[in-house]
Amino acid sequence: MSTLAIDFGNPAHYMGGKQVYDIPAIECVRTGETMSDSPYYQKQVFFCMNKRDSGDCCMNKSSNKALNHARDLIKDLGLKGKGKIRINQTDCLGRCDEGPVMVVYPDDTWYTYKDKDDVEEIIRSHLVNGKVVKRLKI
Ligand code: FES
Repeated sequence: MSTLAIDFGNPAHYMGGKQVYDIPAIECVRTGETMSDSPYYQKQVFFCMNKRDSGDCCMNKSSNKALNHARDLIKDLGLKGKGKIRINQTDCLGRCDEGPVMVVYPDDTWYTYKDKDDVEEIIRSHLVNGKVVKRLKI
């Protein structure tokens, strides 16, 4: 069995036995290979959209606005789609007291946020530049 090594110039990690690349390594300058060649998403973000009549839920803390803002920003940054980033909505993530909550996979990094500025900081720092936003991490 032969092994093909590609130097993307950025740290790589492994998922399911396959080498995947961090978001900043969008294109290899030497080979021209891009992450969009991958059939799967490099990162997936899940926003809790759970709504309860009691009011104790992420939806009552404007998680829908945060989700829409994240989707718009990812699209504007050209990071939406195959081999890049997917923004998802989900039911209760089980951390209601810390909500509203979102989680970034495969990094398993959980965040809370207050407003669109927090969501934008998470996207630009974590998803684009690979730096966790410690002040919002839960
Ligand atoms: S309602 Fe959002 S984590 Fe439970």
